[in-house]
Amino acid sequence: MMITGKTTLAGIIGFPIAHSLSPVMHNAAFAELGLDWNFVPFPVHPDRLAEAVAGLSALGVAGFNVTIPHKVAVMPLLDEVSDEARLIGAVNTVVVREGRLTGHNTDGIGLVAALREKLSFSPAGRSVLVVGAGGAGRSAVASLALSGATRVEIANRSVEKASDLCLSLAPRLPGCSLGAVSLERLADPGYLAGFDLLVNTTSVGMKDDSLPGLSLAGLKEGFAVYDMVYAPPVTPLMKEAARHGIASANGLGMLVAQGEAAFYLWTGVRPPKGCMERALTAYHSLGKP
Ligand code: ATR
Repeated sequence: MMITGKTTLAGIIGFPIAHSLSPVMHNAAFAELGLDWNFVPFPVHPDRLAEAVAGLSALGVAGFNVTIPHKVAVMPLLDEVSDEARLIGAVNTVVVREGRLTGHNTDGIGLVAALREKLSFSPAGRSVLVVGAGGAGRSAVASLALSGATRVEIANRSVEKASDLCLSLAPRLPGCSLGAVSLERLADPGYLAGFDLLVNTTSVGMKDDSLPGLSLAGLKEGFAVYDMVYAPPVTPLMKEAARHGIASANGLGMLVAQGEAAFYLWTGVRPPKGCMERALTAYHSLGKP
């Protein structure tokens, strides 16, 4: 695609940024739709975040994604933040319109879309065990509860962090019963049997490591596993699920779905179905990380 005087720019800020797959996904969708848009990675040092955000707005960028370490720090720099992003406590997508900056969070929408598309799972009325209580855990708990899950428990290595997350979210999610447990509970099949879905939001699995003690033996039919890890594509948790005949999916679907939702917020157009996922798969098959 040729950049012209009319090209609209979007991008992503983070530090570091070289590993980001968002440029691959968004530029593929712009090209497939024939939109005169371009998506650029911007390495923004934390000390220069405020300058960068003001600069992007001044330069007429239509919107940008926000990634580590800026997802929380960017919030006070925006004119408006959506209710869901405020609940999640982080922004991953900013829309710029007439100089006004609005923050959104599409990670939660991405998780729920990936559960539907990859596992035919709807959170409404279901019980979910979320492993991890960091930023990804928080967005998972909030989006599952907003999508109608009636019970969400958070298992975390540091149980205090899981309890803090419950205390902070519970008053704002009245329709959902929240609880916190230590990671050791994952070794108790009787405990796991009370849930319909397990979501791993930690980085465990990226280095071929496993959640300690976890066994998925003897769970009820229909139990599903979602692992936010996507490299390796078949994670240790997915292998454990397969051993027991349990359906599972990796985090690629969520990565794609959060990107699709951001694309729609910026352009008002849905990216062609499968386009972003195909672009990522093609990029990986070139041997890129
Ligand atoms: P993110 O924003 O991606 O969620 P984070 O805020 O650093 O990242 O949170 C990482 C999560 O992964 C935490 O829940 C962390 O557990 P602790 O709160 O006990 O640190 C969890 N985590 C990371 N490495 C882990 C490991 N080896 N075993 C168990 N949990 C791990």
